Amino acid sequence: MRISGRTRLAGIMGWPVAHSRSPALHNFWLDEHGIDGAYVPLPVRPEHLAQALSALPALGFRGCNLTMPHKQAALAAVDCVDPLARRIGAVNTIVVAADGRLEGSNTDAYAFRENLRDHAPSWSAARGPAVVLGAGGAARAVVAALIEAGSVEIRLVNRTRDRAECLARDLAVAAAPRISVWGWEARDEALHEAGLLVNTTSLGMTGEPELAIDLARLPPTAIVADIVYVPLETALLSAARRRGHVVVDGLGMLLHQARPGFAAWFGVPVDATRGLRAAVLSTLAGPR
Ligand code: ATR
Repeated sequence: MRISGRTRLAGIMGWPVAHSRSPALHNFWLDEHGIDGAYVPLPVRPEHLAQALSALPALGFRGCNLTMPHKQAALAAVDCVDPLARRIGAVNTIVVAADGRLEGSNTDAYAFRENLRDHAPSWSAARGPAVVLGAGGAARAVVAALIEAGSVEIRLVNRTRDRAECLARDLAVAAAPRISVWGWEARDEALHEAGLLVNTTSLGMTGEPELAIDLARLPPTAIVADIVYVPLETALLSAARRRGHVVVDGLGMLLHQARPGFAAWFGVPVDATRGLRAAVLSTLAGPR
């Protein structure tokens, strides 16, 4: 990396932020394209978020990403929010416009769709109902992506029923698919005739409990996706693979969500290549 007097700057605000892989992936692209730029971790306490964001234009930053716990709070702290981010209820990418205004967007729905396109190109919404496990921030982005892709039926399965009902209400659009809410105990049953199963819960992540689900009712043609990427091959994906399903791991979503921000800040379109995937994977394997 070369830091000149004209280095373009971007970064990620989080609290904590040290675990984030975003610096590794953006700096991979900066090196790959020989761009005079830097992408840095920005540890920002929740109570300092508004102050930190408003300083971006003054510091000459092109923008930033947001991670936990700032994605929801940022909605109120930027000058404009794109309609999709507003529906999802979270901002993960901010671009500083030429006039210094902060433009907030959410690239997670795009990233989910791109990851599915890469690893399950045969999937189409017509394959059957999509079953989404979870109703948190990630589920909201996945459901938005599925609506955009033309899903006819989405089955939301969550431990806390109210949260799933709230998600269904918030994301409903005029030409909406049927979004049904299922109790957590009905998760095995919800799989019948499904064309896609997506885990958006934290279950199966290293350090979290396993996701207990019986895939027996899932049609063999269904795609199984997990947004967890540590470990890369979750127990859900192993079980699905053994049954012959096409499986999609969560790492691609992490890589794709970064692309729109990079292009806006550094002026170069980038791809989620094998090289990038290998570079980020090596940071997952290494000591923290
Ligand atoms: P994110 O923003 O990454 O989606 P989140 O908002 O904390 O994270 O959501 C985590 C999801 O995992 C939720 O759907 C949560 O269910 P609740 O809404 O009932 O909390 C789900 N989850 C976490 N631990 C779980 C568990 N032990 N059993 C079932 N679901 C669980």
